[in-house]
Amino acid sequence: MSTDEIICNCMEVYKSEIVEAIKSKGLKTVEEVGEATDAGTGCGGCQDDIQEILDQVNGK
Ligand code: FES
Repeated sequence: MSTDEIICNCMEVYKSEIVEAIKSKGLKTVEEVGEATDAGTGCGGCQDDIQEILDQVNGK
């Protein structure tokens, strides 16, 4: 995946924004990413992708 791939089409949130938010704020859940970036707060279809990014960044 390239770092500036769009993850959430509804809210136009890029992967790089999500990764930054997770790292800078220590986010742990899809809900927290939604609050921080709006990603996943539209149709919800990208929430699995957000979870994958959380797992990658948090090393699970
Ligand atoms: S694509 Fe992210 S909420 Fe719809």
